[in-house]
Amino acid sequence: MAIRIAPSLLSADFGCFRSALQAVEAEVDIIHFDVMDGHFVPNLTFGPALIAALRPSTELIFDVHLMIERPEASLERYIEAGADRIAVHVEATPHVHRAVTAIKRAGKLAGAAVNPGTPVEAVFPLLGDIDYVLVMTVNPGFGGQALIPSTLKKVRALRERLSAEGRTLPIMVDGGIDRTTIRAAKASGADEFVAGSAVFGAEDPVHAIRALRAAAGGVQGNP
Ligand code: DX5
Ligand code: ZN
Repeated sequence: MAIRIAPSLLSADFGCFRSALQAVEAEVDIIHFDVMDGHFVPNLTFGPALIAALRPSTELIFDVHLMIERPEASLERYIEAGADRIAVHVEATPHVHRAVTAIKRAGKLAGAAVNPGTPVEAVFPLLGDIDYVLVMTVNPGFGGQALIPSTLKKVRALRERLSAEGRTLPIMVDGGIDRTTIRAAKASGADEFVAGSAVFGAEDPVHAIRALRAAAGGVQGNP
């Protein structure tokens, strides 16, 4: 099975994002942006201006994970900034269907994200309207946390549901993915793996990505 590693800039040096992109772009096809608003999660990172500033530097797929309240209010700015894929949290708005529909209408890929405490069934009504599901395997807000094992049961239940519906949507897992946990995450049915500290916390990010891929026993897939 083809897998995809998505390095998260959250664990890169915030003063050198451009060099972080350059360090991994020969090895992966996608980069993960953790946008945090200090409300939906207790941490604050960056917004569309940073994404727009990096856009001309690379052809990597920009995978934007919005950990912000009422994302529908600012989707357009992330789309204009150059996001290729945008995930919104089902907990962040009563209008998640409207939000994913707006992303799709703009010609971008839409994802629905669920926190560890949210039943994965929350995304079931959206499966026909989205391009991927982002299952949080830690409580969002910070890099470097340990994967919460119960979240992998949700990944399994989701993969079963997708199979029952005849769908092959990617399941992205995010948080605590390292050489030890990636195998279990893949066995549960995940095929896209966000990795922050396991990549940018390593001395050699390219080596770290290869090690993750080897540990998962897969090859990088194509978009
Ligand atoms: C957590 C973020 C993750 C985070 C993962 O709120 O959504 O993308 O960067 O970091 P690691 O891989 O260090 O758990
Ligand atoms: Zn993330």
